Amino acid sequence: MTEKTLFEPHALGSLMLANRIVMAPLTRNRAGAGLVPNELAATYYAQRASAGLIITEATQVSAQAQGYQDTPGLYTPAQIAGWRKVTDAVHVKGGRIFVQLWHVGRVSHVDLQPGGAAPVAPSAIRAATKVFVNNGFADVSEPRALEQGELPRIVDDFRQAAANAIAAGFDGVEIHGANGYLLEQFVKDGANQRTDAYGGSIENRARLLLEVAAAVVKQVGAERTGVRISPVSTAGGITSSDPQPQYDYIAEQLNTLGIVYLHVVEGATGGPRDAAAFDYASLRRRFKQTYLANNGYSLELATAGLNEGKADLFAFGRPFIGNPDLVERLKTGAALAQMNPATLYGGGAAGYTDYPSIAG
Ligand SMILES: Cc1cc2nc3c(=O)[nH]c(=O)nc-3n(C[C@H](O)[C@H](O)[C@H](O)COP(=O)(O)O)c2cc1C
Repeated sequence: MTEKTLFEPHALGSLMLANRIVMAPLTRNRAGAGLVPNELAATYYAQRASAGLIITEATQVSAQAQGYQDTPGLYTPAQIAGWRKVTDAVHVKGGRIFVQLWHVGRVSHVDLQPGGAAPVAPSAIRAATKVFVNNGFADVSEPRALEQGELPRIVDDFRQAAANAIAAGFDGVEIHGANGYLLEQFVKDGANQRTDAYGGSIENRARLLLEVAAAVVKQVGAERTGVRISPVSTAGGITSSDPQPQYDYIAEQLNTLGIVYLHVVEGATGGPRDAAAFDYASLRRRFKQTYLANNGYSLELATAGLNEGKADLFAFGRPFIGNPDLVERLKTGAALAQMNPATLYGGGAAGYTDYPSIAG
């Protein structure tokens, strides 16, 4: 049997991707005034347009959804116009681009919240994690528990941001259901002690994520909606006592909604792939559309995974930071450049748009 490679096209719904290599969402904290992506962002993403699909950095759906300084939004006309420059620049180069839609929930700081308010969460449990604010890392603020009556507004913020994404020229949206942010805070019982319809059982804890997904699907279509999850990751200081049945249920429900892809961070985000026991094949069986795997992939591991049928697409995060032409380098066996950890969050062109491509 001929071996499949990452360098073949893949049909993501009706969208044809040039290859199976996806750029994972990467927060870079460089938005300009009004949390508008700047000109450099258009250059940065266009440089990486040879990825089969780019998923942008996490982008807040409202002012309340912000948890780190200088992260972009998608809820004002200026932000839509800023993103339009990014999507145009990527499309001119023949690339495809989804925006990752984000609400941080309790992973925030009063200095970033409208009116200096407390960040919101399923329950008033402070996360053991830090956010980037006032040009440094600081402990998150004490959150307040959301009233049930506030949840429709949050669902609608995601829906409206998805509509704005299409207006900004995106090919689709990824709902950020991973890494300890709001939607995962509802899903994982370490952050959710609610006793209403959004807490307790597996079905109740999945409710907000699934309501958001359904609202986004209704707004922009299932073919333009993906969801990212991280079943066993403790990113954002979060824990779950029952990830396997919880995420088996979520995969089934998302499959029923017909979303175009499920994006799964395997293991600890940016850490060990085997951080905790989990049967990812169980998600793969339950979700029939495109399955996108991430975390610690090399060309070899991804190619093996593809040929074993473990996933259809593979997302690379850190390697895309220092290698704008990652696809070409993987294809030709060229050496990979290392990223500079000092220039990840905030700043200008240095460590952002100045990593060279081999071809120049
Ligand atoms: C600088 C940086 C920023 C990140 N920002 C995001 C983000 O905005 N949204 C998200 O879901 N994951 C984010 N991640 C996690 C990556 O998408 C990815 O899951 C992680 O780096 C593991 O993949 P890799 O081993 O290919 O790097 C970020 C990671 C890094 C290193």
